[in-house]
Amino acid sequence: MQIFHHITSLRQELTSLRQQGKRVGFVPTMGNLHNAHLALVKQAQEHADVVVASIFVNRLQFGLNEDWDKYPRTLEADIEKLRSVGCDYLFCPDEQEIYPNGMDTQTRVIVPTMANILCGASRPGHFEGVTTVVAKLFNIVQPDMAIFGLKDYQQLAIIRRMAQDLCMPVEIIEGEIVRESDGLAMSSRNGYLSPDERPRVNCLYRSLKQIAERVQNGERNFPALESDAKRQIEAAGFRPDYVTISNSKTLEPAAHDDGQITVLGAMYTQSARLIDNVSLRLDDER
Ligand code: PAF
Repeated sequence: MQIFHHITSLRQELTSLRQQGKRVGFVPTMGNLHNAHLALVKQAQEHADVVVASIFVNRLQFGLNEDWDKYPRTLEADIEKLRSVGCDYLFCPDEQEIYPNGMDTQTRVIVPTMANILCGASRPGHFEGVTTVVAKLFNIVQPDMAIFGLKDYQQLAIIRRMAQDLCMPVEIIEGEIVRESDGLAMSSRNGYLSPDERPRVNCLYRSLKQIAERVQNGERNFPALESDAKRQIEAAGFRPDYVTISNSKTLEPAAHDDGQITVLGAMYTQSARLIDNVSLRLDDER
């Protein structure tokens, strides 16, 4: 695996690959890689001739009171993991490379409406930071395809919308959620959980899955289902942020006759904020 820290040298390399007709796949990450990231690399390999991963802990998408400082930086271990799955290139720039003019006056990419609901309501500015850095990374790597995990469902939907609205010539592919044996979705932030919290945090997934099953079985009182899930999270000792039954595409609250529904939830533990989601299709049945 070749490692690049600078835009110019990465671009030179990728330009020559594109001239040889190679299809470039891209896996953007913030590092602290786990099996779900490696699954994204493997999936990208099925869609592309060469795969570029990036590691950049993007301060622009963290709120002032969030965990940018303590976000785990594990570059050496990450490089080994990427090598073990045959990733071709790693781009790991520093902040000066990505934001040479500083972040305050950085041109921003904003996807209105979708970025201000759900996680965006609790983390103002977060998705603006995500879309800005992903747009920059797309301009740097110019991938034919890029892959984002479904665990960050809202992020994926917003990035899809950005690529569509800005006519970006990149195919956005979704990577399945990878779960621990008790159902907990893999996430770099799981490392923050205390041994006392860890056995209970799968209440988030269990409560979302239960809603999905009840909707599948015909229940349509969405506010009651959402309240039930929040009660289950509270009973496990955590503070729900939101639980919402949404239209899978727009992320607006679902209508009773929507064909594609995603149940999304977020909760706070003492040490982390966890998110998860479960999607279901009702339109096959009609
Ligand atoms: O999902 C992430 O790890 C980040 O939000 C991303 C897409 C790499 C942008 O910094």
